[in-house]
Amino acid sequence: MVQEFAPPTTEWYYPTEEIVTNAHVPDYDAVYNDAMQDVEAFWAQRAQTLHWFQPWEKVLDSSNAPFYKWFVGGKTNITYNAVDRHAKTWRKNKLAMIWEGEPGDKRTISYWRLNQEVNRFANILKSMGVRRGDRVTIYMGRIPELPIAMLACAKIGAIHSVVYGGFSEQSLADRIEDAQSRVVITADGAWLRGKIVNLKAVVNEAIHRSPVVEHVIVVKRTGHDIHMEEGRDYWYHDLAGLPIASTRCETEEMDAEDPLFILYTSGTTGKPKGVLHTHGGYQVYTSTTLEWVFDLKDEDRWWCAADPGWITGHSYIVYAPLILGATSFMYEGAPDYPYPSRYWKMIEEYGLTVLYTAPTAIRGLMRFGEAWPNRYDLSSLRLLGSVGEPINPEAWRWYFEHVGKKRCPIMDTWWQTETGGFMITPLPSVGLKPGSATRPFPGIEVDVVDEDGNSCPPGVDGKLVIKKPWPGMLRTVYGDPDRYVKQYWSEYSRQGWYLAGDSARKDEDGYVWIIGRIDDVIKVSGYRLGTAEVESGLVSHAAVAEAAVIGVPDEVKGNVIYAYCILRAGVQASKELEDELKNHIRHEVGPIAVPSHIEFVDKLPKTRSGKIMRRVLKARAMGLPEGDLSTLEE
Ligand code: WT7
Repeated sequence: MVQEFAPPTTEWYYPTEEIVTNAHVPDYDAVYNDAMQDVEAFWAQRAQTLHWFQPWEKVLDSSNAPFYKWFVGGKTNITYNAVDRHAKTWRKNKLAMIWEGEPGDKRTISYWRLNQEVNRFANILKSMGVRRGDRVTIYMGRIPELPIAMLACAKIGAIHSVVYGGFSEQSLADRIEDAQSRVVITADGAWLRGKIVNLKAVVNEAIHRSPVVEHVIVVKRTGHDIHMEEGRDYWYHDLAGLPIASTRCETEEMDAEDPLFILYTSGTTGKPKGVLHTHGGYQVYTSTTLEWVFDLKDEDRWWCAADPGWITGHSYIVYAPLILGATSFMYEGAPDYPYPSRYWKMIEEYGLTVLYTAPTAIRGLMRFGEAWPNRYDLSSLRLLGSVGEPINPEAWRWYFEHVGKKRCPIMDTWWQTETGGFMITPLPSVGLKPGSATRPFPGIEVDVVDEDGNSCPPGVDGKLVIKKPWPGMLRTVYGDPDRYVKQYWSEYSRQGWYLAGDSARKDEDGYVWIIGRIDDVIKVSGYRLGTAEVESGLVSHAAVAEAAVIGVPDEVKGNVIYAYCILRAGVQASKELEDELKNHIRHEVGPIAVPSHIEFVDKLPKTRSGKIMRRVLKARAMGLPEGDLSTLEE
């Protein structure tokens, strides 16, 4: 395993007295130990803060493990908790969302208004025949209609599948096909770095490849010319003007275990996994973790700078902040557009109090120097957050000093699409060490273990496992329960532990240090990509016979992709072919998957059984020793 990040530091940062006393959880150890005494009672107590149409009979049903069930028999609806109930209290006057578009346009939406918009959208979906359990694919940029569409689906019991707007035709087509979505919600385009991303053109091509789609709802954002298919595609603003689009709509009473959404993520094979989450447990888990980790209070203006198309956005732009009745800020565009001051300018302008972003964004902005954040008043900030990959201590310190002005603790949250919410994370009251996600959230038991399942002593690398089920856990892989069992629960099946797919180490204080993935997943700018996805994209080009890709450490992106291609007989290697292949990947997988480096080779290092030894390619690319080559047969 190639070591990518600095070893644990001995540096400590302690929160001030004021932060500790104001925190929801002033004493982590006491709350953690208390929760572990009776984990089910702990989660049941947290669930009481939400609305249930009918109370649950059993907190946790493990009879068919690993297909765990939470809050069995309970009836609820996450949209009821996120929207309906606030529209009935004083919060109806509170801002649910503040939004800024990349060109500088602004929108604010109160809980009152949000409720109406969600109802309108829900009625439109119903009029298109969308029913409980139907899948709806959403493919759009960061505009308020994206959360509204998600909440509308949940309200009527439909299952949303949001596909990140940076994915291309084929990735979108595969996800539509896997979910069998008859309805797609999109926008004409999105603004990114001053240019239009032509979302509708991608949808048109994806539907051509995946013809299950019957209707497309199109939100007008950029106003550029697009092709609308007669009888299939409808403008949202036209539908919203029809009598069917009333602002009143019943909320479906869902079973706690009814599916809420599918979110596709990368794994070891080329086919993306549809991670499935449900109404009941997910709402309890996301709202509890956000409230305690970022200490959200009514006066906060919370900014999670992720995309709603990823789990971070699902959980912490949309559902958890709204369940808590908070004000959630969302920005459409790029962090450095038109200048590297954009983030800092918006923090000043809106008085944002918490910023939660990814190490890659921090490193990207750090490159431009501290003059940019120093020019703005960032005194509204009281907490910072990091997610998606390990944060190197250098970026941590820059974020701490120049953004948080040494006042704001940084919550480095480790979690996954599969976990639904934060798993290993500080709370504002605990001591921090730059680069460590610290310790597990109350109710969560994690460990670092060896092949046999023995706990690794401090300082020794092992596999990260989760030892107890938790309410925010994925319930299955959509349409593929065997893959769910095999992927997450087979390695330590005897013990019944969840395998996270990360390697990690604990230190003397029990703090967890995440090292990286142990599988064929690469994190590029915090985005999760499977080597197999990129490889199958490359071999789908007529010139390529075989391909292998690896992640190589990069100062800003965390990792970049290096690709090695064996060309088909008679094909000549050239710079033009390299560019053509990059372009091909841009369309087959998406811009985030484009290799930074493509090399044409005659052979690839393989084991006798034919498995590509990516470890060898990686060592070569980084100029490191190649390690044990006894199984190598090129
Ligand atoms: C993988 C999950 C969870 C939302 C975004 C990513 C890596 C995530 C951290 C962190 C070190 C991290 C892990 C994990 N990861 N957060 N704070 N420190 N590594 O979700 O796309 O499902 O990726 O991201 O490798 O397994 P995801």
